[in-house]
Parts: sequence; structure tokens; C-alpha cells
Amino acid sequence: MHSNGHAHRITLAASDRTFECDAGDVMLRSALRAGIAFPYECNVGACGNCKFELIEGEVDVVWPDAPGWTAKDRERRRYLGCQSAPRSDCTIKMRPSAHYAPRHAPRRVTGTLTERRAITHDIEEFRFTLSGDMPFEPGQYALLTLPGVQGQRAYSMSNIADNVDAPRELHFQVRRVPNGQGTGVLFDALDIGTRIGIDGPYGMAYLRRDVKRDILCIAGGSGLAPMISIARGVAADASLDGVRLHFLYGGRTPRDVCGRDMLEELPGWAERLHFQAAVSDVMPDSETTWDGHVGFVHTVAETLFGENLRDMEIYFAGPPAMGTAIQRALIALKVPFEQVHFDQFY
Ligand SMILES: Cc1cc2nc3c(=O)[nH]c(=O)nc-3n(C[C@H](O)[C@H](O)[C@H](O)COP(=O)(O)OP(=O)(O)OC[C@H]3O[C@@H](n4cnc5c(N)ncnc54)[C@H](O)[C@@H]3O)c2cc1C
Ligand code: FES
Repeated sequence: MHSNGHAHRITLAASDRTFECDAGDVMLRSALRAGIAFPYECNVGACGNCKFELIEGEVDVVWPDAPGWTAKDRERRRYLGCQSAPRSDCTIKMRPSAHYAPRHAPRRVTGTLTERRAITHDIEEFRFTLSGDMPFEPGQYALLTLPGVQGQRAYSMSNIADNVDAPRELHFQVRRVPNGQGTGVLFDALDIGTRIGIDGPYGMAYLRRDVKRDILCIAGGSGLAPMISIARGVAADASLDGVRLHFLYGGRTPRDVCGRDMLEELPGWAERLHFQAAVSDVMPDSETTWDGHVGFVHTVAETLFGENLRDMEIYFAGPPAMGTAIQRALIALKVPFEQVHFDQFY
């Protein structure tokens, strides 16, 4: 779709591997499109995991203020793969890592907004139909190019690919961020019928179908979508029939809590799919009665599952502070690192 005469050839130093980068594409994503296991996480300039060294050639830096790019990086000719558009053929130094081998090569399609609905006071679901297929695994995310917004925004899919070979719809569940540019456009300026660019899938926190351990999904705030997708993926996969899934949603107050209705409609609900919620902030005079857990999700998960967490496959998504707290708790409990899956939301 995007290939034209301005593609550049990128060579990986110390190997004879090369790949093409189209005009309008960046180093990281064109490598992944070619099946190269280029390490990354956020795709939006924040994590710094996609760094490479430029040995030969020129690149344009798409977002010079990206928080993941430091002054030291500049001195050492190190760049962010997700923010570098080649201006010539290039030779780069980067260590591919099998963990990042794309399950589905990311592709660029056009999405048409067909439906939206409120989930809570500040989370809405946005549904797009696609101009072409985009196979993905439950838990992955895509990049949305929104009109008038610099760069892309990452949003996780909440649906699953019903027809794994030809999924034609993506559903996103987005929390409105006060003064956020991207969410401002999504919530206030995107009419039904609007077409936007969507690029995906990306992300490593996808459902491990070959693992038969019981699952814990922890979602906080905006982390609802990928955990719902994983629950839907488990319910729909006959090879995971014997797996129990516990879903724990954490919000600030009772009106933030959501997700239960989406699980209730799945086969296996209450038998092997379970939902619990926790709020960190209950006012004694709150109008909403609350009979769920009180506290932060990492503490509640520890209380509920304790050492059993070591025998579970754990997925989580939500704000960075929640992610850090969960990781710390899991390390203290000696949960093996390979059983824990997340892509930090920046
Ligand atoms: C892997 C991943 C998955 C996510 N999934 C979800 C989800 O399912 N639901 C959800 O509600 N949120 C999700 N987020 C958060 C979401 O991507 C946005 O950060 C959030 O919606 C705020 O966007 P904003 O534009 O409103 O806020 P802003 O504060 O305007 O923008 C913040 C984001 O935009 C990037 N950015 C800012 N300026 C530029 C620029 N000039 N060029 C390029 N990039 C720029 C920043 O790195 C940051 O990611 C996810 C984030 C990541 C990394
Ligand atoms: S900074 Fe490029 S993947 Fe996070």
C-alpha cells in the first residue's frame, strides 16, 4: 500500500540481513514487517527499548523530544527505532532477540469508525471496520493516526479476531485523559464514518496459548481492553478448556469499576471465568455502596492468591505506577519472570 520509489535498504551490521523501509515508515516497524525480531515495547517514543546505533547513512528523527531519547544517545549516534525514518540506505547495529519475533507481521490499513458506546464515566469503546485484514493475538495493540494529532497513539484491542485469518474489526476501550491530544480528538472530534490510519498488531503481552496454567488478568483504569481480549481469547480457545481465569479490575472509586458484563456473556462464566474488583478510594459517605475489595490491585492480588501466584500465568495492563507496584509484588513473591506478561502503557 505504501511502497514507492523512495524505499531505503537497511543492513544489519555483523550479519548479511537487510530489509526495506518505505518512505513514511520507521526503522522499527519496517523491520518487524520484514519479520525481524527488533526489540521494542511502546512504539511511541517513551520506553527507550528500541534503540539502535547508526553506523552508516542518515535518518530523520520524527519526534526529537521523545522522552526515551537522551542527550547521551545523540552523542553516540543511538536512535529510537520507533522514531527514526531513514533518509538514505543505512547500516545499523541492533541485536535481534527471538522474544520479539512478530507473531503477525504488522500492516497498515484504514479503519472506519462505525460505533461507539460508553463503558464508564470516562471510558468509551470505539469500533473500527478495516479496509484489509489484520490478524492479531489477544492482548496486542495497534497504532492510531488521528487527524491533527502529532505521532501515533497506541491502543489495545478488546475484541478477538473471530476469524483468525481475516479479522475485519478492531474494538478499542479508551480512557479519556484530561487535556490529552489524542483522546481529545477521539472523544470530541471523530464522527461516525471517519477514516483513520491503523497500524498493527504490536506488543508482547499476548495470550500464551501453549501454557495451560491458570491465569490471572489484572487491569487498572485504561488497561481494561487487552485483559478483556485475553479473557475472550481463553473462552474461545478449546485447547484452553481446563484453564481457570481470574480477572481483577482496579479502579479509584466504585464508579470506575467495569468489565464484569463483558465476562458474564462468555461461555465458562462463573465456572472457570471469575471477576473481582477493587477500589483504592472509598468515601465513607459515598452514595454508591461498595462490597468489593478495598486497596490497590497488587495488594489485593497478593491477599487473594498469595503463593499460588507462582503457579499462575499473569497478564496485566494499566497505568505505569500500577505496573511497577505489581512487578515489585511479584518479584517479592518469587513468581518466575517468564510467567508475567505486560506492555507498559506510557
Ligand atoms: C502499548 C500501549 C497500549 C495502550 N493501550 C491503551 C488502551 O487500551 N486504552 C487506553 O485508554 N490507553 C492506552 N494506552 C495509552 C494511550 O496510548 C495514550 O497514551 C493515552 O490515551 C493518552 O493519549 P493522549 O494523546 O490523550 O495524551 P497526550 O498526553 O496528548 O499524549 C501522550 C502520548 O502521546 C505520545 N506523544 C505525545 N506527543 C507526541 C508527538 N509529538 N509525537 C509522537 N508521539 C507523541 C506520548 O509518547 C504518549 O504516548 C496505551 C499505551 C501504550 C504504550
Ligand atoms: S521508545 Fe521506541 S518502542 Fe518505546
